[in-house]
Amino acid sequence: MGQAMSRWYETTLFDGAMELFESNTQRKLRQRLFQYMDCDEPTNTTSVLEIGAGAGLNLPHYPVWVKELHASSLSPDLPPKAKKRARKRNIKVYYKQGKPIGLPYPENSFDYVVATLILCSLPDREGFVKEIYRVLKPGGKYLFMDHAWQSAEAQTHLSRMLAPLHRRLALGCSLKSVWADSVFTSAGFKREDLHVEEEIPKGFSWLVGKIFLGYATKRPEASDFKMDDRHGQRAC
Ligand SMILES: C[S@@+](CC[C@H](N)C(=O)[O-])C[C@H]1O[C@@H](n2cnc3c(N)ncnc32)[C@H](O)[C@@H]1O
Repeated sequence: MGQAMSRWYETTLFDGAMELFESNTQRKLRQRLFQYMDCDEPTNTTSVLEIGAGAGLNLPHYPVWVKELHASSLSPDLPPKAKKRARKRNIKVYYKQGKPIGLPYPENSFDYVVATLILCSLPDREGFVKEIYRVLKPGGKYLFMDHAWQSAEAQTHLSRMLAPLHRRLALGCSLKSVWADSVFTSAGFKREDLHVEEEIPKGFSWLVGKIFLGYATKRPEASDFKMDDRHGQRAC
């Protein structure tokens, strides 16, 4: 596919399909994810980056205090559907084109990095999470949501059969992705600072496995970081 054609495919057909398949369950999971941002006290300098916003389906779920958002993905511009959702939600977006490895931002830039349904498309998940760790400020949170199997053996036969076609149609998204906390810990996050929830996507579990969502906190250098006694997470 030529560049113009693949851009048209992504911003029209693919983003359109993402909108179409955005079920109530999926919306609720996004809402749940963003509660982890809403429970923190923002300051004047709190900064948020979303990577690979696609059709902007996360935008309606950002807490009201988010008025500005940095966004980056492979395409030269923020996709039109995401622009529309940002306007509707009154969020000013500062967009930069960039590859997931070699994000176009200096280290310690953001209080939050959001990347949902992206890991499944990346051949180097560790490298991507390492980049997120790099651009997060100490004490910052990476909010994630992705589909994956609990183990390679858990994948259904039908899902395995459909994987090559799905990969072609869904911009490289792999149906074979297996969840591994080590993707986070090898990037620098500590296991105690990783909060992961698992959900079974109604109607789709035979195809994609489970949905894993949660956040990873970059350990702050300062000693006044409030930890929850039970999970070692920032109290929330
Ligand atoms: C399933 S969509 C998810 C979009 C959005 N984050 C969401 O949650 O609805 C996958 C996104 O991954 C992006 N993507 C695919 N391959 C990528 C790559 N190698 N690097 C960065 N982004 C990629 C695509 O542009 C697409 O927007």
